[in-house]
Amino acid sequence: CSLIESLRLNRDRGINMMPDKYILPVSDRPGEDLGMVKLPVVDVARLRDPRQRASVLETLDVACREYGFFQVVNHGVEREVINRLLDVARRFFELPLERRARYMSPDVRAPVRYGTSFNQAKDAVLFWRDFLKLSSQPLHAVVASWPDEPADLREVAARYAVANHELFMELMEAALEALGIPRRRSLLAELAVGYSQLMLNCYPACPQPELALGLPPHSDYGLFTILLQGHVEGLQVMHHGRWLTVDPVPGSFTVNVGDHLEIYSNGRYKSMLHRVRVNSMQPRISVASFHSVPVERVIGPAAELVDEGNPPRYMDTDYATFLAYLASTGVKHKSFLQSRK
Ligand code: SIN
Ligand code: FE2
Repeated sequence: CSLIESLRLNRDRGINMMPDKYILPVSDRPGEDLGMVKLPVVDVARLRDPRQRASVLETLDVACREYGFFQVVNHGVEREVINRLLDVARRFFELPLERRARYMSPDVRAPVRYGTSFNQAKDAVLFWRDFLKLSSQPLHAVVASWPDEPADLREVAARYAVANHELFMELMEAALEALGIPRRRSLLAELAVGYSQLMLNCYPACPQPELALGLPPHSDYGLFTILLQGHVEGLQVMHHGRWLTVDPVPGSFTVNVGDHLEIYSNGRYKSMLHRVRVNSMQPRISVASFHSVPVERVIGPAAELVDEGNPPRYMDTDYATFLAYLASTGVKHKSFLQSRK
C-alpha cells in the first residue's frame, strides 16, 4: 500500500516525519480516541424469514433513525469474493506509481479514477488516502475500462459488484418497507439500473497519525453505502456529538444512510458524518460501494411521507447539481439541501 513514492523514499532513508501538506490545523486533528460504538446488527438471513422479518425491519428503522449506520451479517456475499477483493485492492495499490497513474483524472465524474486525498484539487491540507474509483453501472459496459492489472482485478471486482448490488436492492426494499412505503416498484426498477460505484481505499501506515486524517468528516451522497473494511479499524462515526470507532467485524458489512435516503425519507433517516483515522502500525484497505438512483434523476422527499404536519424538509436535487455545489464551495456534506421553505 503506498501513498506517494516520496514518502516511501523518506521512510527508506529513515526519515519518519509527516510532509507538511498532510498536517491538519489543530482544530481539525482527530483528537483523543473516545472508544468504540456498538452498531445495531441487521441479520439478512432473518430478514428473509417471514416470521422474523418484522423484528429485523424494526432494528433497521431504529438504526437508520438514530445512528445512520448499521452492521450487516449473514448477507450471503461469499467470503471468498470478499477476501479476494481486499487482496486485489491491496495488490493494485502496491503497483509501481507509474502504472497506477494511468488512471489519474482531474474529472471527478470519470468512470475510472485513481487519486489521493479527498479531493486533491481542492483540499488545502491533503488526506492520508489513495483511492481507485470504479463505476460499476452498467457493469458489462464499464468493466473493460477498469484497470487490467492486477490481472484478476476485473473478474474479482465485477463478481463483488454484482453481489453487492443485489444486497443493496434487498436492503432498499427493506428500508422502503420500514418507512411504510413498500410498494415503490418504480423506484426499485430505477435502482436496478441506477448509479453504483466501488471505491477502493488504501490508507498507508502514517508516521504521525495524530496530525492527519485518512478522510475528513463527510456524509455520503447516495441512498446506502455498503462498506467492506479489512481487519484494521479506522472508520469513525459521529454519534451524539462524539467521534466513535466502528469495529471492523470480520465478514460483515458496515452500511450507512446517504444524503439521498435522508432526503427521500424527509429526514426520518439520517445521513451521518463520518471520517477515517489512520494509524502508524499497518496499512488499511476498505471498499465502499455507493448506490443510488440514476445520476440525472431528481430526488426529493417521498410524497407518502409529506403532509401538512410534515412539510418537505429538503430541496429536490440531482447529482450534477450536488457535484457542482461541492466543487464551488468545498463543503463535504448535505447542509445546502435543507429546504428554506
Ligand atoms: C468512506 O467514508 O467513504 C470510506 C470509509 C472507510 O474507509 O472506512
Ligand atoms: Fe463516506
